[in-house]
Amino acid sequence: MRRGSVVQLVALGAVFGAVAAAVALFIPWLPDPASKQADRIDFVFWFVTAICITIFALVAAVIVYAVLNFRAGPDDDSDGPPVHGHTGLEIVWTAVPAALVTAISIVSAVVLAQNGHIPQESAGAARDPLKPLVVDVTAQQFSWLFKYPGFKNATSSTLRLPVDTTVQLRLRALDVIHSFWVPEFSQKQDAVPGLVTKLVITPDRLGTFPVICTELCGLGHALMRSEAMVMTTPKFRDWAEGQGKGGAASGGASGKALFVSNGCNACHTFKPAGASGTIGPDLDKLRQEAQRAGKPLEEFIRESIVNPDAYVEPGFQKGVMPGTFSALPPAQIDALVQFLSGSNK
Ligand code: CUA
Repeated sequence: MRRGSVVQLVALGAVFGAVAAAVALFIPWLPDPASKQADRIDFVFWFVTAICITIFALVAAVIVYAVLNFRAGPDDDSDGPPVHGHTGLEIVWTAVPAALVTAISIVSAVVLAQNGHIPQESAGAARDPLKPLVVDVTAQQFSWLFKYPGFKNATSSTLRLPVDTTVQLRLRALDVIHSFWVPEFSQKQDAVPGLVTKLVITPDRLGTFPVICTELCGLGHALMRSEAMVMTTPKFRDWAEGQGKGGAASGGASGKALFVSNGCNACHTFKPAGASGTIGPDLDKLRQEAQRAGKPLEEFIRESIVNPDAYVEPGFQKGVMPGTFSALPPAQIDALVQFLSGSNK
């Protein structure tokens, strides 16, 4: 090979490599990672991207070089010179990809194993509830509920997490398959009826990030969102201990908070709760709806929560509202009935 051709090939490779690297680096393809697991996944992503950019630069340089240098003239109809196999070249282009794919597999397997690992620490009665912090996640159409068994079953409709603490989520679904996703944490985990699935997260950045349901689960799927708030450990303890003492878990929560934490707002319009869903009937008109159903207001509301198909408002379908709300603690159903009827009088 002439020295000029080598220089030309290297120059082409550098240009294509630089363009591909700029596209990878300067366009924000992924959110900034906010957990140790996300940092590791980010590393795998960049490891694979660097390999891809290198191979792309190599292939693009050879193609463009060939197009520029071996172009046939407009009236040249002759065949090109016959080419026989080149054993050395074939060995190289088999061995290099094999080595790269093996390297990617090993790096991915190590990261997967690390991301599923929970440091086993304090056990027994005196175990520290933050080592690890266990959160029971309940998914249902169309809301998330987070419960903290280490803090007297404190519950919340937003996922609150202390920074730099390993958290184990135990996910359950009450009706259909949902999937838990926080883009900044880079991981997804399905919540499947009848199973408890697990996910380990160690948040390492303060902030508020979206929790998104990423499995099509029904009409309100797109609205099945919450927030993950990563806070300092003392702030988290204050909140969790305060929450566990009385409050939300025991039915003392306001009807409005229950309305939101149970996801009613995803499907219904109800001004006092700032809700504007249109999948189910408008709850600002409950009085008229109860009249159409021929029932006293409060009885009608209670029945519609516990047994939603007993009366279906014209224009809506049976079976859209989940029947799972009948499993709510009676105190919470009372609070909801009060909240809904109080604003319709
Ligand atoms: Cu739950 Cu989509």
